[in-house]
Amino acid sequence: MSSIKNIGILTSGGDSPGMNAAIRAAVRTGVYCGLDVYGIRRGYQGMIEGDIFKMRTTDVSNIIQRGGTILKTARSKEFMTDAGMQKAYDQITKHDINALVLIGGDGTFRGAVQFFDKFTIPAIGIPGTIDKDLAGTDFTIGFDTAVNTAVEAIDKIRDTAEAHDRLFIIEVMGRDAGYIAINSGIACGAEDILIPEQATDMEDVLCRIDFDERRKKTVHIIVVAEHDDFGGAKEVQSSITERFPLLDVRVCILGHIQRGGSPSFSDRVLASRLGYAAVRALMAGESQAMAGLINGSVVLTPFKNVIKNETPIDSDLLEMIRVLSV
Ligand code: F6P
Repeated sequence: MSSIKNIGILTSGGDSPGMNAAIRAAVRTGVYCGLDVYGIRRGYQGMIEGDIFKMRTTDVSNIIQRGGTILKTARSKEFMTDAGMQKAYDQITKHDINALVLIGGDGTFRGAVQFFDKFTIPAIGIPGTIDKDLAGTDFTIGFDTAVNTAVEAIDKIRDTAEAHDRLFIIEVMGRDAGYIAINSGIACGAEDILIPEQATDMEDVLCRIDFDERRKKTVHIIVVAEHDDFGGAKEVQSSITERFPLLDVRVCILGHIQRGGSPSFSDRVLASRLGYAAVRALMAGESQAMAGLINGSVVLTPFKNVIKNETPIDSDLLEMIRVLSV
């Protein structure tokens, strides 16, 4: 028999499509297990402020298809202080919450590592971020939808780029990770993909544009990840315009459109599986770990290990991008 009676659920950091499906799964599994389930609004900030309310299974009806998060989210600076963490812990104790489900990304689990160094309370995490920059899971909730959103946008840009013989630089999100750039770029047949994990050789990019120009290739699409070492789309545009002043070079920054929208079927399934698994893991006595999906199976990885994503970008993939983009 588990000693857990009441669980609190929060979403923290950047929202991602599918977070609602994860909340739904965790709430309903919690109630199924006989627990009282509490929603904590605005992530760690709401925990500090005691913005906590009891949830019923009907509170999560009709949300599986919705982007955003019904629990709202925030990036809390106060939680990073000793005083903030103490306030958060006091609120959890006041509400008699004896286990937590944390849905978020890198920042959420960094916060968790610091918090659980000081306070002991069972907690299981669920990876919710469009960036896919966590270890311990093959996919994060929201990544698939974000890539699909980027693909839809880039396809549209290709139409107008071709009509005008323009070169387009499209900037996508991903913080320090190039997964959205690589996957949307491959899916849209981008001529070049610039990512933070690989030093950008601008001379090489310019040579490829020159080559395309000489053989009259009409469209050139460059997908650049927001934190590429060369800079963002604007810096890339300046370099190209300086070398090729007659080229019509345009920029499109996709921005937060990538974070919204109805989650794809795979994000809904992933979120449902991990929301369910997180509560089941707590009931089985597991703690301080994130539930992820590796090769189709649920795997628990300690919080301190998920924030060290050192998986290198597959060099074969990078080679393939060069071969296919001639
Ligand atoms: O972590 C998700 C993410 O969308 C990143 O890709 C991006 O760098 C960041 O959040 C933007 O955060 P904010 O919406 O707080 O500006």
